[in-house]
Amino acid sequence: MKKSILISAAVLALAGCQSGDPQLGKSSVDKVLKAMTLEEKVHFVIGMGMAGSDGTTAVVGSTEDIVPGAAGTTYPIPRLGIPSIVLADGPAGLRINPTRENDPNTYYCTHFPIGTLLSSTWNQELVESVGEAMGQEVHEYGADVYLAPALNIHRHPLNGRNFEYYSEDPVVAGKTAAAYVRGVQKNDVGTSVKHFAYNNQETNRTGNNAIISPRAQREIYLKGFEITVKEADPWTIMSSYNKINGTYTSQSRDLITTVLRDEWGFKGLVMTDWYGGDNAAEQIAAGNDMLQPGTVLQYQQIMEALKDGSLTEAQLDVCVKRCLELVKRSPKVKGYQYSNKPDLQAHATVTRQSALEGMVLLENNGVLPLKDVKNVAVYGCTSFDFVAGGTGSGNVNRAYTVSLLDGLKNAGFNVDESAKETYLKHIESEKAAFQATLDPNNMLSAFYPVPRPTELIPSAKELIASVKNNDIAIITFGRNSGEFFDRSAADFELSKSEKALLTAVTAAFHTAGKKVVVVLNVGGVIETHSWSWMPDAVLLAWQAGQEGGNSVTDILTGVESPSGKLPMTFPMNLMDAASSDNFPIDATKDVYFINRRENTGVKDIDQTDYAEGIYVGYRWFDKHNIPVSYPFGYGLSYTSFEYSEPAVQNNGKTITATVTVKNVGEVAGKEVVELYVSAPESSLDKPVKELKAYGKTKKLAPGESQTLTLTFPTAELASFDEEASAWKVDAGTYQFLFGASSRDIRCTAEAEAAASEVPAHRVLLKQ
Ligand code: BGC
Repeated sequence: MKKSILISAAVLALAGCQSGDPQLGKSSVDKVLKAMTLEEKVHFVIGMGMAGSDGTTAVVGSTEDIVPGAAGTTYPIPRLGIPSIVLADGPAGLRINPTRENDPNTYYCTHFPIGTLLSSTWNQELVESVGEAMGQEVHEYGADVYLAPALNIHRHPLNGRNFEYYSEDPVVAGKTAAAYVRGVQKNDVGTSVKHFAYNNQETNRTGNNAIISPRAQREIYLKGFEITVKEADPWTIMSSYNKINGTYTSQSRDLITTVLRDEWGFKGLVMTDWYGGDNAAEQIAAGNDMLQPGTVLQYQQIMEALKDGSLTEAQLDVCVKRCLELVKRSPKVKGYQYSNKPDLQAHATVTRQSALEGMVLLENNGVLPLKDVKNVAVYGCTSFDFVAGGTGSGNVNRAYTVSLLDGLKNAGFNVDESAKETYLKHIESEKAAFQATLDPNNMLSAFYPVPRPTELIPSAKELIASVKNNDIAIITFGRNSGEFFDRSAADFELSKSEKALLTAVTAAFHTAGKKVVVVLNVGGVIETHSWSWMPDAVLLAWQAGQEGGNSVTDILTGVESPSGKLPMTFPMNLMDAASSDNFPIDATKDVYFINRRENTGVKDIDQTDYAEGIYVGYRWFDKHNIPVSYPFGYGLSYTSFEYSEPAVQNNGKTITATVTVKNVGEVAGKEVVELYVSAPESSLDKPVKELKAYGKTKKLAPGESQTLTLTFPTAELASFDEEASAWKVDAGTYQFLFGASSRDIRCTAEAEAAASEVPAHRVLLKQ
């Protein structure tokens, strides 16, 4: 009731029906701030709550206001011309309700590829164009701020949200996020870069204390956010749920004000993650400007703190002003008349095309691209039921998902559908059986990523017929994951039935001299070492969005040569990852050990010690020379490339590296070049090498060459010296390694750098 009065009053006020009071659209922010009462100010920094919820009955952000199914709205103050603005998820596309009560129209959004696929493109221009298409849907469906991108580091393969994050490397994560933000914000809508920071696990995410050294924070966990802030100027940032060294991130002035604003120069707004933190007054004092989705308790906490003097009105005003600035730049204040008709058809093409560049060819003994293939046998439940993306707030309500079966048929293949009905029935019954095991009183149940069904193993007779009738077999293995849940150790391995299916199909087809291709429709890293030698090719398709089956088919048939490369390492064993020592593996089964290698047996999900420091991903595997299944930066192509004429120059401000890449194969293709740096001897422990820049060629015809120029600031040669609390570049000779992957360095060059030091605040310390 209160809300609807406010909203209709807001409409009147925006239409200019009141006079006297300053109006946000026309007056300065300072004037509006001055005209606000204390009560209005406190309301204004708190969101409007969730649909039918007092904060205890809903799980994923959802409001019925203005744009049903959006995650939240801001508090309107009609007398001052302040409308309610709409905040909606991401990051694989806009998440709103697809249908509305008493409304025959539909509000489907495009499900674009997941974050990990976008980062696997290593193509910032392409990511920007995907962001631009997403931003158009945000704008045309009436949202103002898109709660994306998400760029937490892939610290461990089992983090349930890795699918929406980008990489184990901060440069890949930061550059990808920056491109995405630039693209979305071209539409005059905002982004909320999340989750700031250290949100690297889902287990006990709202209570977990991440214990991290300042060096690892600065070099690994904050670096990507720093790049995004400096290169793309996001409208907003979302703080994370967890604590850092004892303090909730949303209550950490060190993080949100000292580092983010004072050091990096961030000018926008910080909002909490939904219900994040435990003290609203501390959040405001820290500079966490807006609390979402908003609760009555938060209002009381802030009012009490103002009364007892632990929070001043001046401190509150800082946040109120930033909230006013955000609303002032929103489409709502400008009175934008959204159409509810984004160009879904054009965006289907964007998602289909962009997915092609992020798929990673892991193995190929010459079977791909498919030649002389007409009749195709498809196996694996996921071939019939493709996974477009992950679950939770990152889900997108799309109109359809193209399966591999349909993708192949669309391309004109004769797909053997003899087992289709059996598969579909089996998938449905396994899904239903799983749903029946869920506790209806557990709110999280609805978001549980439904496990892939047990695989059907064809009988000998069925296999004989299949081999006889088909030229090739394609098996898809899928994985689903999502917000709230970390993956289990079992999820990392192929299941028994998946292995049995692979064994049976490869044996049968190979006996007849026919080939088998495996497609991985997964959101994160899985074990491949024990089986990747069995099929003739393995294509890592990721979760490629709603056009998934068409995109996979385009790669299989060679419409485009694969050019994606891994933004993370595929370890041979889960326990090879340094962070496995300190990650809540299978915490739900109560077998979590704070230090698994020493097997101290302490069950504790309240804290996670990032004991590996900066040695995350390839930095760890390289340091200890640990063999891996596929190294960071790896990916095959249908063609091959030669690198030549490497050169590097340091003018004191910028490093400029050039290298010439030539397509020496038979088909056209693009190549990603990765520029790693090896530092000279230093008093600090340094990684063997670190990625500093990367680039992708245009599509090179056979025989064609291109010289790529890669640049980065010389200051980025620095490591963070904790003792001095400063970024330090050591004087000396630096090696620049031009790699086709982190373990395939094609050529090198050297350049000198002078010593330099940039002081940083002594904050975020371990306690
Ligand atoms: C997620 C955020 C999301 C928010 C709003 C939270 O549960 O962690 O990523 O933006 O909900 O839906």
